[in-house]
Amino acid sequence: MAETGKVGSFWHDTITTPPRRWPALTGNIAHADVAIIGAGITGLSIAWHLVSAGKRVVIIEADEVGHGTTGSSTGNLYSVVGPRLHAIAKKHGEQTLRAVIAARSAAIDFIEARVKELGIVCDFERVPFHLFSAPDAAAAKEVQHEFDATQRVGLPSSDAIPASFPFRATALTTVADQAQFNPLKYVIGLAAALADRGCSIHENSRVLDTEDGEPCIITTATGRLTADDIVKATHTPQGLYAVHAAMIPHREYAVMARVNDALPPSGIYWNANSAWRYSVRPWRTAQGNFIMVLGEDHKPGEQDAAQLDRISQFLHQHFDVAEIPYTWAAQNYRPADLLPYIGRSPLEKHTWMATGFAADGLVWGTFAGQLISDELRAIANPRAGIFSPTRFTPIASAKNFLLEQAAVSKHLVHDVLSYGRNRECAELAPGAGCVVTIGGEKVAASRDHEGRLHVVAAHCTHLGCLVHWNPLELSWDCPCHGSRFDMDGRVLEGPAQKDLALAAMPDPPRPDLPS
Ligand code: FES
Repeated sequence: MAETGKVGSFWHDTITTPPRRWPALTGNIAHADVAIIGAGITGLSIAWHLVSAGKRVVIIEADEVGHGTTGSSTGNLYSVVGPRLHAIAKKHGEQTLRAVIAARSAAIDFIEARVKELGIVCDFERVPFHLFSAPDAAAAKEVQHEFDATQRVGLPSSDAIPASFPFRATALTTVADQAQFNPLKYVIGLAAALADRGCSIHENSRVLDTEDGEPCIITTATGRLTADDIVKATHTPQGLYAVHAAMIPHREYAVMARVNDALPPSGIYWNANSAWRYSVRPWRTAQGNFIMVLGEDHKPGEQDAAQLDRISQFLHQHFDVAEIPYTWAAQNYRPADLLPYIGRSPLEKHTWMATGFAADGLVWGTFAGQLISDELRAIANPRAGIFSPTRFTPIASAKNFLLEQAAVSKHLVHDVLSYGRNRECAELAPGAGCVVTIGGEKVAASRDHEGRLHVVAAHCTHLGCLVHWNPLELSWDCPCHGSRFDMDGRVLEGPAQKDLALAAMPDPPRPDLPS
């Protein structure tokens, strides 16, 4: 495998002053107007608007503020989107495209305003966004289509290729006045400001159950809360929801290299070429000059070692790499019709969701703050219908929906038939994992780097797909809707609410289970 360095997000090592911490939810606490599950950028942005309007808000976080997807994101803030503006225009029309641009631009402005108002030191910087391609007809067409779309919606864009452009490019779309920041420092600052304004925050409080009702009830292992409304700001809503079938989970690698070179000008550089479809960003920090490369997306549990090797190869070809100290992966959920689901949950009266952000979640999550808080306060928002989870767009999303359902069916059936014959299970090396059959039951066995064996039930607790081993992050990942579990079966992320059960060890050892 490639030189992966430390497996973990760069942002966590930039927090040099210990942030404020908040107590776990214990006992029965006072009724809230709104309970928000998840203290990432989405939950905190929603809370900001509600607290500013005088609402009593309680935020419940399974881990610590920003330690989920926000702390594993890449700090990009742009009005454009990963699925491309021209693709949104094709599916939904120019009017919707303009609404998308307006929503995302306003979200970036909101972040910039909070950074200034609250004095959050998070390296916020306005930078240009570049989408480029080297000789490649399909990629050049994509870049041209995107330039045309940016011009139609009035973004400050250019297709001129300056002589100083740091990569080989034969087609380029540059959008000025986009931004980047340190997402973890931002949400830590926002959480502190919210607490100062009376918002209750509870960390290390995994929600085990929610009941939609009057009142709504939220239960954790140690506490219970009632609220008028619940917002599930957990990246993908936990539990069973139709939107899970309309989103495709993906994971993408981020690799951070310390380089000896002078860095290219600040900016977001996206390569549209099919071979190296990476996003590259220079970062000047107190620790040195870094290049961050993002890419090699794959479904959870379907990664391969060659993907990290390719990123490493790219880095070495383009830069004088001193070391690669950070490698991590982040998950995203791609909606079949390219637009996120933000609003009231279908079939529920007081439960709200914000999901399907693809790889553009920092901006979508901030926009969700405005939209959901408007709806909770009965303020008409003209964009509510576009992003409503209840929308039904069979023409726009049918193909992707059916493809995804076929993929889920494949995992439900194919995995059950094929797993258990894996000969690698006979000798399970440290850092390896495999699914085997014990007494007719599929179990997921893995060995940690200290040599200890961990065995858990192999069927995902969400809808029963078999989990796959992720050797980089030592986790069990479900390819169906993206739930992830640690070696001992504890939920890490995704729609699953229950842990994988610990499996009984066979006694005496059986030949089909590694010792
Ligand atoms: Fe749905 Fe695993 S996440 S079955």
